[in-house]
Amino acid sequence: MRHFLYFSGTAVTTGNFNSAELMKAGRMDIALHVIISSFFLSHSVREDVKLHLVFYGMPDPPKHIEITIEKEKGIPSQDDRERLDISKKDLASLIKKILYKYKPGQKTEVFPGCFIEKKSLLNVVEELQKESEVFILDKKGTDIREAKVQDNCVFILGDHKGLPSKELKRLKKIAIPVSIGNKMYFASQVVAIVNNELDRRGI
Ligand SMILES: C[S@@+](CC[C@H](N)C(=O)[O-])C[C@H]1O[C@@H](n2cnc3c(N)ncnc32)[C@H](O)[C@@H]1O
Repeated sequence: MRHFLYFSGTAVTTGNFNSAELMKAGRMDIALHVIISSFFLSHSVREDVKLHLVFYGMPDPPKHIEITIEKEKGIPSQDDRERLDISKKDLASLIKKILYKYKPGQKTEVFPGCFIEKKSLLNVVEELQKESEVFILDKKGTDIREAKVQDNCVFILGDHKGLPSKELKRLKKIAIPVSIGNKMYFASQVVAIVNNELDRRGI
């Protein structure tokens, strides 16, 4: 399984945000672009990707949202009784609903393949590390083209402000820093490029 972990220090941790003003929801717009780059292909979706969103915004951080998509099931619509074809326009309401359904003290499966729990960045990574090799996306890291990547891999990336420095120190001890080049890319662009790199290698 190919995992991406997108960390946002600002994305809100309540479903009570306005879908029409995603930038005001702690840059939820970036998280939605990351979802699109993680899963969407032209006329298809990726079933080999698991996306972890770790949000540290107010009012109740941290939140860990886990998303996988099964083509057959699609992403559910706001109306639980219906299942829509996966659609980019539904993503804000999907995240709102997942955040609303958080229950303290448990990992809740809100929709098939979509979970929410309270878990810190380091705890999520430590969990993933048990089964996967962990990479940090870092402009100054080793060129990803030189990196050996196995089927079970995790790529961690930060928001518009990058990864938090305290956690970054710890992460650098357990993860391999890899770069996709000398330019600083948007988080969603990074995901698209890494997906492409792994596709080309047949991973
Ligand atoms: C918009 S960038 C963050 C910019 C932020 N001002 C900083 O200095 O970290 C979002 C994330 O994409 C990843 N990223 C951006 N460019 C990259 C590159 N050339 N190679 C590897 N990762 C990159 C990093 O994980 C970064 O935290």
